[in-house]
Amino acid sequence: MNRAVKVIIPASGSGVRFGGKTPKQFLKLNGKEILTHTVKKFHDVKAIDEIIIAAAPENFIRICSIIRKNNFTKVKKVVEGGKRRQDSVYNALINLDCGKKDIILIHDAVRPLVSVKLIREVINAADKFGCVIPGIAVSDTLKRTDKNFFVKDTVDRNGVVTVQTPQAFGFEILQKCFLRSYKDGFTGTDESSIVEKYGYKVKVIPGDKRNVKITEKKDMEEVKRYMGGEW
Ligand code: C5P
Repeated sequence: MNRAVKVIIPASGSGVRFGGKTPKQFLKLNGKEILTHTVKKFHDVKAIDEIIIAAAPENFIRICSIIRKNNFTKVKKVVEGGKRRQDSVYNALINLDCGKKDIILIHDAVRPLVSVKLIREVINAADKFGCVIPGIAVSDTLKRTDKNFFVKDTVDRNGVVTVQTPQAFGFEILQKCFLRSYKDGFTGTDESSIVEKYGYKVKVIPGDKRNVKITEKKDMEEVKRYMGGEW
């Protein structure tokens, strides 16, 4: 593959839903910050050239110390995060020195159990299909509810997936779609929804159930269970 691969890690969330004073990306798992576990996975993938982290300025010193301590030489920049996750990713994107065809991976700082295998699979699929996301087929029955939590209807789960990161895109497409989303005032909950909106096809590859996103306390417990197991 003759395209550079660069990674954006948005780590600027304040963790309102999780609670506590320390943002969850800095909480420790097996003695190391969640962010350290996450960055290490990408650092260990040979095809990856550069990593950029978006964070709140008050955490820059903390992040620089993580980078130094772990010799994360591929982390070339730490940039300021924004109000929305999308703003954090955009600020990282405009601070990357990229060729049009380079592959950009975006991964939540709070998914420390992403596997090197999944990262490689996403990169390989991106080289073939362009825009790629990992997804897991839904097995539970899905219901839509009203604001009082009464069932409105049952959603057909056929072909429905829950989506994870890392998500991958060609640099030029991602940049173009982000610019349009700002012009249109569109907010997406992930990067894929931004490129989908502007008509690009996104390929779903199998995700990994262990690739948990730590949002609430119970997610931390689940991650610890996986780490204590075969991980
Ligand atoms: O808030 P949420 O759980 O969706 O955050 C997913 C990832 O995006 C986290 O790693 C978080 O630190 C990051 N984020 C960010 N900037 C924001 C909000 C979230 O970098 N404004």
